[in-house]
Amino acid sequence: MSRGAAVVPVLLCLLAAAYGVFVSNLNAACLRCLCFAITGCNVTHGCTKGYCGPFYISRVYWADAGKPVFPEDDPERTGAYQDCAKEYNCASTIVTNYMARFGRDCNRDGITNCDDYAMIHYNGGYSCETSLDNTNFSAKYDVCRPGALAGESE
Ligand SMILES: *[C@@H]1O[C@H](CO)[C@@H](O)[C@H](O)[C@H]1NC(C)=O
Ligand SMILES: *[C@@H]1O[C@H](CO)[C@@H](O)[C@H](O)[C@H]1NC(C)=O
Repeated sequence: MSRGAAVVPVLLCLLAAAYGVFVSNLNAACLRCLCFAITGCNVTHGCTKGYCGPFYISRVYWADAGKPVFPEDDPERTGAYQDCAKEYNCASTIVTNYMARFGRDCNRDGITNCDDYAMIHYNGGYSCETSLDNTNFSAKYDVCRPGALAGESE
């Protein structure tokens, strides 16, 4: 193997980190599955008990994700968090940025994939290791898990 071959993946990781958009194995099917597991992907859910939108995103989660908002919006504007969290694509950006920050092999199976993102989404990024067994979230995640794990990149 040439030295160049080893440099390319490192460059890709640096680029991904710079733009904050690519998270390994967090594909559209995984995002959709997290959404389904947490609220049935109810896009009319709004905000209840401090959680907003189809991904059920709290203000703290949003802040930890870097406060993404709609283009031209201001994170300091009252309602900016709610508006982004309530809309599927903007909320997907919140989740993606959150996973870019906290993504790791929570279940220690040797790969960071949608199973881990599910644990992070449900448990939070600071203590993702708690098993999801016997939760309604887990039961629903299992329904869409096969699609969510298809197309893993590593
Ligand atoms: C979606 O959420 C709204 C508001 O909470 C609720 O009225 C509606 O029944 C939910 N839809 C589904 C399919 O759960
Ligand atoms: C799962 O959902 C059912 C029906 O909504 C509810 O009665 C039950 O308490 C939930 N279980 C857990 C572990 O959240």
